[in-house]
Amino acid sequence: MSRPFTPSPNIVRLKESATLAVAARARALRAQGIPVIDLGAGEPDFDTPAFIRQAAAAAVEAGATRYTATEGIPPLRDAIAAEANRWLPAGATPFSASEVVVSNGSKQSLYNACVALFGPGDEVLVPTPSWTSYYEMLELARTTAVPVFGQAANGLKVTADELERAATPRTRGLMLNSPCNPTGAVYSRHELEEILALADRHGWWVISDEIYRRIAYDGEALSLSQLDAPRDRLVLINGVAKAYAMTGWRIGWSIAPVALSKAMTAVQSHATSNPAAVSQHAALAALTRLDESDAAVKTMVAAFHARRDAVLDALGALAPRAVHPAGAFYLYLDVSSVGGDDPGAAFAAALLDRYQVAVVPGSGFYTPGWIRASYATAQATAVEGVQRIVRLLTEGL
Ligand SMILES: Cc1ncc(COP(=O)(O)O)c(C=O)c1O
Repeated sequence: MSRPFTPSPNIVRLKESATLAVAARARALRAQGIPVIDLGAGEPDFDTPAFIRQAAAAAVEAGATRYTATEGIPPLRDAIAAEANRWLPAGATPFSASEVVVSNGSKQSLYNACVALFGPGDEVLVPTPSWTSYYEMLELARTTAVPVFGQAANGLKVTADELERAATPRTRGLMLNSPCNPTGAVYSRHELEEILALADRHGWWVISDEIYRRIAYDGEALSLSQLDAPRDRLVLINGVAKAYAMTGWRIGWSIAPVALSKAMTAVQSHATSNPAAVSQHAALAALTRLDESDAAVKTMVAAFHARRDAVLDALGALAPRAVHPAGAFYLYLDVSSVGGDDPGAAFAAALLDRYQVAVVPGSGFYTPGWIRASYATAQATAVEGVQRIVRLLTEGL
């Protein structure tokens, strides 16, 4: 007799990732021979630049096949600190390698931070819509995620006032993500300063997910490190996945006060140990061979920029229904006009059915009136997909 699996209390409220679910459905249709335009993906469509791949191959041949220190190899931690220091304003205190913990992707760094900082009874503010994993990580840390909804008129970004209204005496921190997944919105210097001042007044931790920082189109997207603010409650999260088209290598990092970095290292040491040695060497090449990597980033961002402009063009008169995508590679579109309890899910299902275009329903980001379309795909494909979205939105469900 086979006994059923009963989920533990740790995971009983955990949800499947909405983005992965859509990708799986699109793959299933493709497997049946149905051509699908996949605007569901959350990863660059480019190959990892050749010099990085070659550096990794050379590192394997040179013996990068063993365990490393949990927090990463020293030259990579140095390179990550140096990379963060490249963008600091003149006179700012530089970061040091002792504040850096390298992980298996920025996702793990975010998880390390949530588990090390928060626990039962704590509340953490999550500007919403937001990347779905923040909620689930906080759930795994047995912490209450408190959604704070931004206004459409403000690109769905939250203001310091909105955060303050959602706070309680149990609030311990907030998650920030600029450029934002799923909206592509970028917070201005003034908006960030106000939020940081609020957090500082309350002693909240700010976890700043800056994974899309280099993918910005209307001027620079700021790192919180570039603002003149105390760092004793600040966790910067970044990685190589998006800027260098290195999603599969799984390298991310946190930059945080040394005591917290040690705690996060301890968490990681018991969960996964070090990130793959070969991947650390690949990331080292990306972060130290700056002429080559800056050129590669520039080329990829220019392509994303051209696609961003092209998909906005394709939206035509419907463009005001989208959040202005100033960064990342997502178009977030208001489809609430189709009506029902979950307009985004109904729209996404009809779109896949009738027009073979995969997008992610906004319910995955706690905003069911919306859909997310990724333009991390060939420009003609992205434009064709958005034209079909316009067709369905115009004709209705
Ligand atoms: C906002 C955001 N943060 C973090 C990640 C995870 O990135 P990584 O591949 O570095 O774990 C993603 C990936 O989709 C993301 O969209």
